[in-house]
Amino acid sequence: MYVLMNTRDERLKTIKDEILGLSGFSLADLRRKRGEWPIVGEGNHEAKLMLIGEAPGAEEVKVGRPFVGSSGQILSQLMAEVSIKREEVYITSVVKDRPPNNRKPTREEVEVYSAYTRRQIELIGPKVVATLGGLALNWMWENYSQGKWGTVSRVHGEIRKLHKVDGEMYLMPLYHPAVALYDASKKKVLLEDMRKLALFLRKFDH
Ligand code: URA
Repeated sequence: MYVLMNTRDERLKTIKDEILGLSGFSLADLRRKRGEWPIVGEGNHEAKLMLIGEAPGAEEVKVGRPFVGSSGQILSQLMAEVSIKREEVYITSVVKDRPPNNRKPTREEVEVYSAYTRRQIELIGPKVVATLGGLALNWMWENYSQGKWGTVSRVHGEIRKLHKVDGEMYLMPLYHPAVALYDASKKKVLLEDMRKLALFLRKFDH
């Protein structure tokens, strides 16, 4: 008997539909009440690089796209400087609906979306996951590593191999680009780390 497998695009679309249909949960109910969008993710479904942020802000939920607000502008600028094209990568965040007043997402909120992000990683199969900020870094450790190895301020820019049964995957911890909004020196650090990331990605060029 033949089992017809859904394609990667179809499976990613299913994730999108499931997130759109979430209900009985405060962030999703709030999103619906306000007529906003979740941030499922966008970009190349075969990306070698996946960027994972924390949670969408006000600008993102107006249009349903990740990193289009002020931190998104910094991110795009940094990527352009090291010649990483936004359309070549896949960008999402750990929490896919906006927490009220941009507060930190709770552990329960993170849990609601965890399975979606894990499925996105499994389907896209990136060689490198770059986390933007501490929340995404912790999430990656909890899901793909055996224990923590430090805060973002200690480990940013250090590439590590992750535990994954089916193929290699690396983690590159980056600061969240929003830090550059209130600490200009961090922009330089982010740029240096982005350069390292761009260089490392060349390893996977064919
Ligand atoms: N911060 C995030 O983590 N994600 C966005 O999309 C915007 C800001």
